[in-house]
Amino acid sequence: MTVPDRPTALAGPEGRAQLSLFARNFFKHPRMLGSIIPSSPFLVRRLLERIDWERARVLVEYGPGVGTITREILHRMHPEATLVVLETNDDFVDFLARALPDPRLQVIQASAEDVQAELAQLGLPAADHVLAGIPFSTMPTASRQRILADTQAALAPGGSLLIYQFSSRVLDDLKRVFATVECDFEPFNILPARLYYCHG
Ligand SMILES: C[S@@+](CC[C@H](N)C(=O)[O-])C[C@H]1O[C@@H](n2cnc3c(N)ncnc32)[C@H](O)[C@@H]1O
Repeated sequence: MTVPDRPTALAGPEGRAQLSLFARNFFKHPRMLGSIIPSSPFLVRRLLERIDWERARVLVEYGPGVGTITREILHRMHPEATLVVLETNDDFVDFLARALPDPRLQVIQASAEDVQAELAQLGLPAADHVLAGIPFSTMPTASRQRILADTQAALAPGGSLLIYQFSSRVLDDLKRVFATVECDFEPFNILPARLYYCHG
């Protein structure tokens, strides 16, 4: 499926409100956010080009924040697909539920640790893709390892976990859980980001 490009920059009053909400929450929860500014259009495009939009029916995003990636997933995804976003921050959950009234989107206030329970609760099958920008490097090792193992168990055969991070700290754990981990890099982002595409 060819997806028409559209501007993803956070311009205009709506974009400024998103930036302000994101930055205010960064000062309240710096370790949970990991960045003062949402992902750049370059990073979002690089991450999403790995997905076969014609085939994917169940997508999960961990830590959508103000929905910078969420909007682009909704723009690209199949009319019959479902996107489940798991976000721990209640300001972001309230914002997303109001800002993105799309029947294909399920906004859930929960941790990535609950992915399997949330998919079961919604009556959804295993996920084709999980996308994650949560700060794996600053969370306790046990939580990081549990999230990665549960994510692998929540994926359909042939499914993938697509991650972006600002450090390579998560890489060893990814290699322990997934059969293949492909590495990529996006310089045009604050901060420059490492991307990992995990299968198996
Ligand atoms: C770097 S921000 C990414 C925001 C957005 N995805 C983007 O690319 O601009 C990380 C987000 O992950 C959320 N988060 C942190 N730990 C989480 C967890 N265990 N489960 C779900 N969300 C989490 C934070 O509240 C924050 O919204």
